[in-house]
Amino acid sequence: MDSTVTAALDPRCVPIKLTHTLPVGDDCPYPAYTDDEQAVWRTLYRRMEEILPGRAADEYLAGLRVLGLDHEKIPALADVSRALQRLTGWRIARTPGLLDAADFFGYLARRIFPCTDYIRTRAELDYTPAPDCFHDIFGHTPMIVHPRFADFYQQIGRAALACSDPARMEQLTRIYWFTVEFGLVKNPGGLRIYGNGIISSHAETLHSLSDQVVKKPFLPVESVAAQPYDIWHFQETLFVIDSFDQLEAEFAAWAGRHGLL
Ligand SMILES: [Fe+2]
Repeated sequence: MDSTVTAALDPRCVPIKLTHTLPVGDDCPYPAYTDDEQAVWRTLYRRMEEILPGRAADEYLAGLRVLGLDHEKIPALADVSRALQRLTGWRIARTPGLLDAADFFGYLARRIFPCTDYIRTRAELDYTPAPDCFHDIFGHTPMIVHPRFADFYQQIGRAALACSDPARMEQLTRIYWFTVEFGLVKNPGGLRIYGNGIISSHAETLHSLSDQVVKKPFLPVESVAAQPYDIWHFQETLFVIDSFDQLEAEFAAWAGRHGLL
């Protein structure tokens, strides 16, 4: 089925245009999760913990350790926000779902990560078409602990806000996709995953480092910006950064060349 048709059928895939500001940090209430929702978190966490060593980036695993995300129950956004603020000056806002791009990037530009607080159903352990709190908290927040990634993530937001050309915006979206969501990095121990879209998916974590995926260098950034992607299937092409210093510097250079930073 055409992906736009599929997306239109699932209300979680329809971006929300905000009419009010989101609660941030201590203003994010803790939802009344059911026992089954807490059990889904435990199951997802346990399944990923088994396969992330040797696959996830050292930087991601360090962030996960520092944040100390609870294995047993869904973390409170207010607690994660407090920890991030102490570490890199980022905070968490509670979003009711997938945000309109301009709203989302506007928050990133202010070092605020819009985060969902609902969790997928047990029938969706392997795949969910829109972000949930396992993707957002377990997948995203450990990388925001890394100072260079944290700065790069803010720069993406600032560049997007400065972008008025739809074609350029599409390029920026592709860079976001192949870094924040699906990036690979060279670690001393070998090729590792830092992309949150991979790290929150058991099946894609196993697939992404396999020989079925073409791995290309992150430079030139123009080649990343020109690479189409498919949100409905495993990625066939991924891009590899040498380091997070490289990611931050080369993205800033690309955005500077196009008048976005
Ligand atoms: Fe994401």
